Amino acid sequence: MCWKSFKITNWIVLYFGLVGLFRHVECAENKYDNYTLIKIYPTGIQQIEALKYLEEPEHQVEILKKSRSFNDSTDILVSPNDIPFVKEFIKNESLNYELKRNYGRTFESVERTPKRRILRGFSFYEYHSFPAIQEYLDNLAKRQPDLVKLQNLGTSYQGRRMKLVKISSDHNAQNPIIFVDAGIHAREWVAPAMALYLIHRLVNDPDARKELDGVDWYILPVVNPDGYEYTRTSRANRLWRKTRSKNSQFECFGVDGNRNYGFKWAVSGVSTNPCDKETYAGPKPFSEVETQMVRNIMMENSKRMKLYVSLHSYGQYLVYPWGYTGEYLPKEWKKLDTMARIVSDAVQKAGGQPFKVLSAGKWYAAAGGSDDFAYGAVGVPYSYTMELTSGFEFIYPERLLRTVLPQYYEGFRAFAAQIKKEFCLKYIGQRCKINSQEESGTNS
Ligand code: ARG
Ligand code: ZN
Repeated sequence: MCWKSFKITNWIVLYFGLVGLFRHVECAENKYDNYTLIKIYPTGIQQIEALKYLEEPEHQVEILKKSRSFNDSTDILVSPNDIPFVKEFIKNESLNYELKRNYGRTFESVERTPKRRILRGFSFYEYHSFPAIQEYLDNLAKRQPDLVKLQNLGTSYQGRRMKLVKISSDHNAQNPIIFVDAGIHAREWVAPAMALYLIHRLVNDPDARKELDGVDWYILPVVNPDGYEYTRTSRANRLWRKTRSKNSQFECFGVDGNRNYGFKWAVSGVSTNPCDKETYAGPKPFSEVETQMVRNIMMENSKRMKLYVSLHSYGQYLVYPWGYTGEYLPKEWKKLDTMARIVSDAVQKAGGQPFKVLSAGKWYAAAGGSDDFAYGAVGVPYSYTMELTSGFEFIYPERLLRTVLPQYYEGFRAFAAQIKKEFCLKYIGQRCKINSQEESGTNS
């Protein structure tokens, strides 16, 4: 097996001290190597409806992204065996499409030795291993203890220590909280990269005082570290999405963390099959220790938490509740929509692409997401899922991080300005006095 041979070669390389060879050792078996990525562009309602047929589980195609409407693609990954069936389907429905053959061969090899990292320092425009990220955060908290505090959350399923990053210019101020998480889906590497860049700017940019005075930032940059590390082990696993917990009755691993939250759990858009590659909701709500951690952060800070943003990739969407249904919207949907458009405009003004703004359920209904839980169960008045980037599916090139992360940062500045405007009616020094009327607001 691929993973075993990797380990053995690793051993031999170490034994002979040929460290230089390490990076040339490649895993021969990558199941995606011969897969074809097909991007289908529906041009009418009937075609969008027709695409649902492909989404049925027995058809074995992996859906990477669903189309919202015309001019937006449904992206699927097709094995060599299934190509004839899919091509036939495309022909019958007269669909417009684009192909990328041998998709897995485009995946980068990502093994990085710790040595290289120490020599070069921590760059925000690279993808890092989970231990490297933890080390960076530990150092940051040591260097700036007044501004940055780490809260231990316990360990992931496989025992990785997780820490919540709290950034505040006054940790006793009881300011409104903006909570940002990232990386619940293992393969969406650009999301943790964005969370780390956000931390970096808030802490190191003197202009970020504006974003810090009156607001506390709670950031959890890698919600699913086991899955994240798994996607780094070999190119064959690069597209893993779920956690890595073991289901006792089946020889299958992992739960989709964003179907595992206990609000309208499993009512739509989930799989009940633990061996499903993508959207298994878990044996029960909050079966995963990682989603329990996020839930606890929300519950413990529910009064002060005014904004929740869950970072994902891809598609350049900024979506709000409800996610479990596309049939209706929350009573206060206009406020959610307006804030999202302000954020999108800010990103666009910084040279980025605008977001597609709508409710998550109108894109496609899927229950058990963290956004719905924050809004519907915890009562966080603004709650979003932000799907970063478009054009590169899940394999967003490192070289472009330098361009897009600063653009998205402008979106976070706009978020903070809006939160302060709405919730800080009074300031006492740098402390924001939360408007108590708003504090008791609940969501229907
Ligand atoms: N791509 C995300 C997912 O499938 C979108 C989640 C949007 N929110 C929701 N509650 N459906 O997890
Ligand atoms: Zn995701």
